[in-house]
Amino acid sequence: MILAIDQGTTGSTCLVFDHDGTLQGRAYREFTQHFPKPGWVEHDAAEIWEVTQAVAGEALDDAGVAAGELAAVGITNQRETVCVWDPSTGEPLHRALVWQDRRTAGRCDELRRQGHEAMVRTRTGLVLDPYFSGTKIEWLLQHVDGLAQRAAEGRAVFGTIDSWLVFKLTGEHVTDPSNASRTLLYDIDRGQWDDDLCALLGVPKASLPEVRPSIGTFGTTRADALHGHEVPVAGIAGDQQAALYGQACLDPGMGKNTYGTGSFVLMNAGSAPPPAPPGLLATVAWGIGQRTVYALEAAIFATGAAVQWLRDGLQIIERASDTEAMARSLDSNDGVYLVPALTGLGSPHWDPYARGTIVGLTRGSGRAHLARATLEAIAYQTVDAVRAMEAVSGTPLVTLKADGGATANGWLMQFQADVLGVPVVVPEVPETTALGAALLAGVGAGVFSQQHVVDHWQERSRYEPRMGEDERETLLADWQRAVARSRGWVQA
Ligand code: G3P
Repeated sequence: MILAIDQGTTGSTCLVFDHDGTLQGRAYREFTQHFPKPGWVEHDAAEIWEVTQAVAGEALDDAGVAAGELAAVGITNQRETVCVWDPSTGEPLHRALVWQDRRTAGRCDELRRQGHEAMVRTRTGLVLDPYFSGTKIEWLLQHVDGLAQRAAEGRAVFGTIDSWLVFKLTGEHVTDPSNASRTLLYDIDRGQWDDDLCALLGVPKASLPEVRPSIGTFGTTRADALHGHEVPVAGIAGDQQAALYGQACLDPGMGKNTYGTGSFVLMNAGSAPPPAPPGLLATVAWGIGQRTVYALEAAIFATGAAVQWLRDGLQIIERASDTEAMARSLDSNDGVYLVPALTGLGSPHWDPYARGTIVGLTRGSGRAHLARATLEAIAYQTVDAVRAMEAVSGTPLVTLKADGGATANGWLMQFQADVLGVPVVVPEVPETTALGAALLAGVGAGVFSQQHVVDHWQERSRYEPRMGEDERETLLADWQRAVARSRGWVQA
């Protein structure tokens, strides 16, 4: 059996797969989101560990895994979110700063004004946006009392969530290139932490984890950390890269969209680092042995997060799944558009100052309009991402491979196919992120082969586009007008 840990932005999912890749057990729990100021998002790293450890135990119980039956653990995770802890005690020294956190927007502007953007883009494939870990680490070093001193003396270390979990599980301070490539500190071509970028942001290189290939050995779990199991952590990848692997997008040109807290369209770009094209990111998909595979990415920040906001913020739905019937209850959106720029806008706009915007309300607008507008926005943002990707590759998309929680929403998947104008296909295991982590770990532990990954992929459902060209173009044009109104709302 393989245990896959998927530590996401809103919750931890653990799945247990057997040696055939068949799902045997699962468990999931959400954890607390902290919003200390507008635009700030934090997680309690200790809570993340406790919840994840408990969920792992529940999944192992659900699958009935006995002592000696677990072969390996795979870890996949929300990316960019940065943890800081004392390596001797394993205690966090501050709350984790989450990828959605905008507090370093001003610093990114300053770095741009100072002329650093071209270097950052060439070396890391990223853009100067508060989304990534580097300026968050710098913020922690500058604002947490005594932290810079501690880090310089080796008494504080940093890591993305994979590093944090693997440290708690095994005591090793390690990461993989797919996660390292999201920090703003990693040279994706040379495959190493970049001295200039570390110096620019004041990050001591020794406080960063050792980067090891995504498939391989990251350490052995301590029995007390993993419910009595002492097994290798044999695969690690950021959640979007793991989903690309789980969707069997192993050849250049193959891509997917994962609908989670945000949505992320990734396309396999082969084994040479691609130049980062306008509006998009170049990133590491995974490292296997000496070989690195790259991806092009369009990052959409708030999709599932917007549905969660309808539930927890506005409290107009009880469950995310309520949105499907609410959207269906209307014949059209009646001109209501919601731009969920709750944490700014990512690809292709990269605007940390955009904010959530609702336009087109009338006296007749109600909860159903907001629910429908939120689902529509998920689909429109994907269209923008795919169009940006097509412009770069010069190849029109033929089908969209979709995965993640929102693929359970049939209305959304049909609307997605309608506004994209191509079929949307959903695989047999929609938790493709966790599957990808299990496959990486399974290959790492010698339980699966790479061919197994390809053979394992099966289509579960397919949504064919039914909308006429005129209707599609009108909706997309109105969506663009709504996006324009959300841009630059917060004054820099
Ligand atoms: O880059 C952020 C991404 O990794 C978050 O993924 O699944 O938590 O929306 P998710």
